[in-house]
Amino acid sequence: MSDKSAIVTGASGFLGRQVLKAFDRSNWSVKGTGFSRADGTTILKVDLGNAAEVTKILDEYKPQVVVHCAAEKSPDRVDKDPEGTRAINIETPRSLAKLCAERSILLIYISTDYVFSGKVGEAPYETEAATGPSNLYGQTKLDGEHAVLSEFKAAGKEGFGVVLRVPVLYGPAQSNSESAVNVLMDTVQKAQQNGAKINMDHWALRYPTNTEDVGRVCKDVAARHLGESDRASLPQILQFSSEDKYTKYEMCQLFGEIMGLPIDRIEPNTEGNDPNVTVQRPYDCHLSTKALKDLGIDVSTQDFVGWWRREVRAFRK
Ligand SMILES: NC(=O)c1ccc[n+]([C@@H]2O[C@H](COP(=O)([O-])OP(=O)(O)OC[C@H]3O[C@@H](n4cnc5c(N)ncnc54)[C@H](OP(=O)(O)O)[C@@H]3O)[C@@H](O)[C@H]2O)c1
Repeated sequence: MSDKSAIVTGASGFLGRQVLKAFDRSNWSVKGTGFSRADGTTILKVDLGNAAEVTKILDEYKPQVVVHCAAEKSPDRVDKDPEGTRAINIETPRSLAKLCAERSILLIYISTDYVFSGKVGEAPYETEAATGPSNLYGQTKLDGEHAVLSEFKAAGKEGFGVVLRVPVLYGPAQSNSESAVNVLMDTVQKAQQNGAKINMDHWALRYPTNTEDVGRVCKDVAARHLGESDRASLPQILQFSSEDKYTKYEMCQLFGEIMGLPIDRIEPNTEGNDPNVTVQRPYDCHLSTKALKDLGIDVSTQDFVGWWRREVRAFRK
């Protein structure tokens, strides 16, 4: 029986599955929660909007750490259901933070590089840089950060709430549509069929980061915080990112090369933002990993090209 215990919310999701694995591999006693995809055994079904259900699992499993991955991340669903999104992205982490603070449980809240505006010339962003989300998803995640940190502060438990910001993610998926990066593999395949040309962004810079690496970093942050007697002295906001830099079009070029498929039906779009449009897309939200490095946490990542070459080779076998 391990002396270290954790709960991972959103463990049926794209990132949560790898976070769960990372703790499990390091012999933590770990339980995952999900909702529509929960199997009831490895992953418990918990409606995180229901405080009684959350209280029950916290009191039954008594984790030292909760990694909160559950959220609404699809921009389409966010825009279609702003109230539902605010509930899961802001009110759920707020009530989870309150329950964790009352029990002195460390809460790692997964956030996003989209809390920054990504305007040309601003990146890389340090943890304390001014935020300014350019869309509703980023705003709800930023409000979720504030909700978490203010609940711990109000309870006099600063140092038990930690925000971990990450950029766009790729990695093992149940279907490519789970990730804005993996889905470009499908785009390259679709581009082999006859039909209209596919317009692909070749302006905004992305730093695709592997979910397995994020899982390992969550586990390292948890261990670092649990081992610290003066937790309030540790930074409350951390950022993790790969240094691999691509536009979406460049990712399509790479996937085409790896799969041996032409991409001439995919058109690079270098237009960038229309200055007359109110909602501007981030150009570059590159996250500095300095705060993690200062804590002594390994920020190395898997190589993007190498990972995809292995993935395609394994798929073909
Ligand atoms: N994916 C990215 O590129 C990316 C980039 C930056 C930051 N992030 C952040 O990383 C975190 C994980 O994202 P992801 O890509 O893994 O998302 P995901 O694949 O959509 O998974 C979302 C998870 O949340 C659970 N969930 C949703 N509503 C719930 C509710 N009411 N009660 C309980 N569980 C609920 C889902 O459970 P069921 O599916 O079982 O219903 C699922 O396990 C999020 O906080 C996201 O903001 C993601």
